[in-house]
Amino acid sequence: MSLFWRIFLLNAVGLVAAAALLLGPVTVSTPVLPGEALAVVGGLAALLAANALVLRVGLAPLQRLGRAMATADLRRPGARAPVSGPAETAALITTYNTMLDRLEAERAAGAARALSAQERERQRIARELHDEVGQTLTAVLLQLKRVADRAPEELREEVGQAQEATRAGLDEIRRIARRLRPGVLEELGLASALRSLAAEFSAHGLTVGHHIPADLPHLTEESELVLYRVAQEGLTNTARHSSADRADVRLRPVTDGVELLVRDNGKGLGGAPDGSGISGMRERALLIGATLCLEPAPGRGTDIRLRIPVVAGDSR
Ligand SMILES: Nc1ncnc2c1ncn2[C@@H]1O[C@H](COP(=O)(O)OP(=O)(O)OP(=O)(O)O)[C@@H](O)[C@H]1O
Ligand SMILES: [Mg+2]
Repeated sequence: MSLFWRIFLLNAVGLVAAAALLLGPVTVSTPVLPGEALAVVGGLAALLAANALVLRVGLAPLQRLGRAMATADLRRPGARAPVSGPAETAALITTYNTMLDRLEAERAAGAARALSAQERERQRIARELHDEVGQTLTAVLLQLKRVADRAPEELREEVGQAQEATRAGLDEIRRIARRLRPGVLEELGLASALRSLAAEFSAHGLTVGHHIPADLPHLTEESELVLYRVAQEGLTNTARHSSADRADVRLRPVTDGVELLVRDNGKGLGGAPDGSGISGMRERALLIGATLCLEPAPGRGTDIRLRIPVVAGDSR
């Protein structure tokens, strides 16, 4: 029954009963006798209590809806308000749930567009760094070599230093370009790309171990890229923020998919708010229906767990 009819009928019953009593046998004397006053107050109390009860029961689903709205978070999709209560309230909750469906779908599509635009942009920058700056520096290096061959003895050392600096710059640019575009992912596949990532971050007092089994279920190209980027951001954060001396990248098959674990033994997250790095990880995970979880590692440090579902029967 709708909320309108519930309230209307209850009020109607009370008023009709009161009117019937007044027209019928009941009389109220002036001044009011104690027995009469008691009956009137008792009837009024009963009517108010019934009214309050009906309103409370009828409005409870709206309160629940309010709470669901206040805690709704599009980054954690799937939570829906339970549909219950009188017809209007149930319709409102259903409409709200439908709106959430639409917003979540739109958000996922928007995030997918943004991330693929970001990947394209990274590829473009990587290509330009490699092709343009890389080529220029290579040409400079060759010129320096020719200069070095003909330079007088007293200038040789300085020219040699310039050659060294140019070579180091060239290496740096190649490294940045490689980081921007996971070329290894395309060329060697996920396992080698992750191993090379671990090797790349093993420097300046940080040792990065890896455990990547060979017999992993088949992942889509998109999932592999998400996995790679999450490992990359996880290790970047470890190197930048954690003061850890040990980190591990582990990949293992689980019942419904694959789990990536990036663990460090540093100082831990300590309630730091998400920056664009961690938000990006969450967005990417959401995109492929994976779950991402950042938690304190056993002992000390940080665990990043990414669980990617694999469609049944889709194994290598
Ligand atoms: N492994 C870690 N150990 C300790 N603190 C961490 C770790 N990873 C992240 N943090 C904390 O969480 C914060 C947010 O990380 P996030 O990657 O989102 O942003 P960021 O690294 O500061 O910037 P960027 O957008 O360049 O990634 C960091 O500033 C840092 O304080
Ligand atoms: Mg970061």
